[in-house]
Amino acid sequence: MILDGKSVSESIYGDIRKTIEERGPSLPSLVLFCDEPDSSNRSYMKSIVKQGERLGISVLTVEAGSSPVDEIKRINEDPSVAGVMVMHPLKNADEKAVMLALDPLKDLEGRTVYNLGGIVNDEEFFAPPTAEAVMEILDYYGIDPKGRDITIVGRSNTVGKPLALLLLKKGVDGTVTVCHSRSRDIGSKTLSADIVVSAVGIARFIKRDMISPGAVVIDVGINFVDGKLVGDVDYDEVSRVASAITPVPGGVGVVTTALLFKHYLKSLERLEQNIR
Ligand SMILES: NC(=O)c1ccc[n+]([C@@H]2O[C@H](COP(=O)([O-])OP(=O)(O)OC[C@H]3O[C@@H](n4cnc5c(N)ncnc54)[C@H](OP(=O)(O)O)[C@@H]3O)[C@@H](O)[C@H]2O)c1
Repeated sequence: MILDGKSVSESIYGDIRKTIEERGPSLPSLVLFCDEPDSSNRSYMKSIVKQGERLGISVLTVEAGSSPVDEIKRINEDPSVAGVMVMHPLKNADEKAVMLALDPLKDLEGRTVYNLGGIVNDEEFFAPPTAEAVMEILDYYGIDPKGRDITIVGRSNTVGKPLALLLLKKGVDGTVTVCHSRSRDIGSKTLSADIVVSAVGIARFIKRDMISPGAVVIDVGINFVDGKLVGDVDYDEVSRVASAITPVPGGVGVVTTALLFKHYLKSLERLEQNIR
């Protein structure tokens, strides 16, 4: 089965359009905060801007500049901005300091200490949308993580770590292994998993001999090979053994973008009610 992200995202956009219709025009902006975005971030930002145009939400790109923390503080106070996505990684700025300065209510990616802490306490306000996208895809296609062995490759604050926490939640009840660049014998850990999630950023990292027959494979990776967008998974080979697999493009990425806009509306609502 191909786990098509477009169908998942369409159901999310359906709700978003309804809310926007009810609210009427003149919505505040969504800011993409960046410095020197790499090719995968540039492509991601372009797709967010395009989607914003379709929905009638203005998406602004703001450069981190020479005083990124001051710039974030300015955005925090700016009522014409409802939410911010900090394009990770910031190459020239102290990303930790930027995330500490960002108002959690405008943190659309759920990467501030406050929002990440919410996941640990099983009461997240914003979970990072990429991690959430993986959960949405599993849910939409009726793949229940309960009691399953799940191996995640990648431990970033945007994907691997929050996803592990979401899968570990009581009620979700996955059994999670998280691998990273210092892990030994990753193949044996993916091979023993019912569900494999790859968020590494290396093309064709997950090969056929790393996946057991019938496993579910979720590819978070966004890589460019000869100008072509590919994931982390050797799709042609792995799709022969997996029972279900996300394509790239058209998998996790489109769901992540939809969730970002869902978070934007959530953020707007909370800001208006001044709920902290
Ligand atoms: N589809 C989407 O919506 C979406 C959203 C966000 C990101 N992405 C993509 O997902 C990928 C990961 O993003 P990210 O932000 O999590 O990246 P990141 O911060 O660079 O993290 C990459 C992770 O992969 C691990 N890793 C790197 N090389 C490895 C190796 N040889 N063996 C095992 N683990 C290795 C790193 O380990 P260490 O921690 O030890 O360094 C790290 O934990 C990228 O391709 C990115 O473009 C996609």
